Amino acid sequence: MERLFQIAIDGPAAAGKSTVAKIVAKTMGFVYIDTGAMYRSLTFKALKKGTDLKSGLKLKRLLDDTEIVLKHNEDGQRVFVDGEDVSERIRYPDVTAQVSLVSSFGEVRTEMVRRQRKLAEHSNVVMDGRDIGTHVLPGAQVKIFLKASVEERANRRFKEEEQKGLHPSIQALREAIALRDKKDMERAVSPLVKSADAIELDTTSLSIDEVVDQILKIAEEKIRH
Ligand code: DC
Repeated sequence: MERLFQIAIDGPAAAGKSTVAKIVAKTMGFVYIDTGAMYRSLTFKALKKGTDLKSGLKLKRLLDDTEIVLKHNEDGQRVFVDGEDVSERIRYPDVTAQVSLVSSFGEVRTEMVRRQRKLAEHSNVVMDGRDIGTHVLPGAQVKIFLKASVEERANRRFKEEEQKGLHPSIQALREAIALRDKKDMERAVSPLVKSADAIELDTTSLSIDEVVDQILKIAEEKIRH
């Protein structure tokens, strides 16, 4: 069987990973897998059930009892937890504020990584997250590390939230992003770190189209060789 093609896109919160990954996947006819949505799904369920968020063991037990389905359609992805469509709900601030904690436990990560690899078993994929190039798909043919200044990422989130009819404070967004970076980079298990063989793209002054074009070029180059 021909080897499947994998594109790993990692980087800090709000660097534009999912926006870019979705377009790259659609253009190439690959399946898009948003691993952050899986950690968010577990966080959502734990909040709903009142699970102790400081206990990796309890969270892992809850995860074992939780079905997370990423369904793909024309516009990308919908996320279902035990059959309930939570695509929007998992982006709410209460989930965002706790997801770094929930994703910090080794027990939780091991099971998530197992599920993520399974999702990539039979398809060409674009997978985005924090540890895809370093840990989930270490053999990925293309590894991209997207970054952007905290200021720029806060501005992007601000616009997104405004479009949803929310009225966020730019200062609060800046602080939340910086805090999530810190937690994601300092956690003991699979911290956010650029894989040695990843190509780093600083998107601070690039448009979405420019970032997509660069990734497509890198991928096409790899496919040709
Ligand atoms: O990409 P995102 O903002 O939806 O991710 C939410 C959180 O999940 C992020 O703060 C860290 C965690 N995460 C992770 O630890 N590993 C991944 N592969 C993806 C996300």
